[in-house]
Amino acid sequence: MLQGKNIVLGVSGGIAAYKAAALCSALVKAGASVDVIMTENAAKFVGPMTFSTLTGHSVSVDTFARVEKYDVSHIALAQKADLFAVAPATANIIAKMAHGIADDMLSTTLLASRAPKLVAAAMNTGMLDNPATQANIATLRGWGVEFIDGSDGRLACGDVGRGRMAEPEEIVDRMERMLTPKDLEGKRVLVTAGPTREALDPVRFLSNHSTGKMGYALARAARNRGAQVTLVSGPVGLQAPADVVLVPVVSAQEMFEAVRRELSGADIIIKAAAVADYAPKAEEPEKMKKTDQDLTLELTRTRDILSWIGHHRRPGQVVVGFAMETRDLLENAAQKLAAKNTDLMVANSLRQEGAGFGVDTNIVTLLTRDGAEELPLMSKFEVANRILDRVLALAE
Ligand SMILES: Cc1cc2nc3c(=O)[nH]c(=O)nc-3n(C[C@H](O)[C@H](O)[C@H](O)COP(=O)(O)O)c2cc1C
Repeated sequence: MLQGKNIVLGVSGGIAAYKAAALCSALVKAGASVDVIMTENAAKFVGPMTFSTLTGHSVSVDTFARVEKYDVSHIALAQKADLFAVAPATANIIAKMAHGIADDMLSTTLLASRAPKLVAAAMNTGMLDNPATQANIATLRGWGVEFIDGSDGRLACGDVGRGRMAEPEEIVDRMERMLTPKDLEGKRVLVTAGPTREALDPVRFLSNHSTGKMGYALARAARNRGAQVTLVSGPVGLQAPADVVLVPVVSAQEMFEAVRRELSGADIIIKAAAVADYAPKAEEPEKMKKTDQDLTLELTRTRDILSWIGHHRRPGQVVVGFAMETRDLLENAAQKLAAKNTDLMVANSLRQEGAGFGVDTNIVTLLTRDGAEELPLMSKFEVANRILDRVLALAE
């Protein structure tokens, strides 16, 4: 979403200005064209050359005192912005924004710009809690300015609490979301992701190599497009996307129960989880001791969640399944599509480089009852969006 977009990044005078460099770098890497405007106080924390080197563009710092001719570059920047972010935003710049004060390059350009605005406040907890700052934030929110909060933690001043700037990757994530058209607005999407773990005893389990990356990409893509997303996830090492309802589960049985609870409230169900087909017949209450003998495990069939969804779905719901195979991919996927009463089957082979578990890319074929569409190698996030495009077409 950031590819080719014009981002104006305002940097004001707080200690978190150093984090703005990482933000700037991430935006440039994502393909955005970034123009940085710093306040004079920000330039005391980080040199403008850091930003001009990262962006390849000259950095505007307040030089009104030195220019003789009225400089209209603030209008040009204000007009070209697809999105205007202020990170870090001091209490001072927030106050200026809320009161229409335009006494330096950053505040003047902010006032002139009609672009969507995102503010990452960063300040001492006392400054943040001050009724003046709270009132300013409320005013700006009322005008549609978005704020992104950081997590609680230790602040540079030594205080512990609110007021830390959000991390650069969280800010990039929010910007992508702000720039995404909301074609799934009002839709409720249920996504399952990750592996399940079937306990043998208190220390051992049967599982698979799923990392959850595909399911989490789907949850993020659907959220960006305006959907309300519930993510039923097996144990993975990923952070759930912000504003997605996470339902953590461990076993196939727990995943089934969570899906059963959530099914009726969903318009779109996407089952990207790699659910165990078999589980140990019984979990040993104590750690199993090894012996010199071989061990035979007795396994029992778990519930086929996709098939259950296919047979309990209500009219109007769109159901998407995933088929991962090591051979006869399309035949198996087509058979699964029909047998499980799904609308769309995403087939991916473990045998293709760049596809499958763990990697950030995938090569998939989208199968519907009308035919198959083979997609080239692309990121899991792009795959997620292509799946959602097809889901939207099916929902019409
Ligand atoms: C070392 C130091 C750190 C500061 N950190 C912050 C901060 O994190 N947030 C904030 O709102 N103000 C902070 N200030 C105060 C601002 O720099 C001050 O309000 C200044 O007028 C802001 O100017 P600007 O908004 O034009 O950049 C800090 C000041 C100093 C000296």
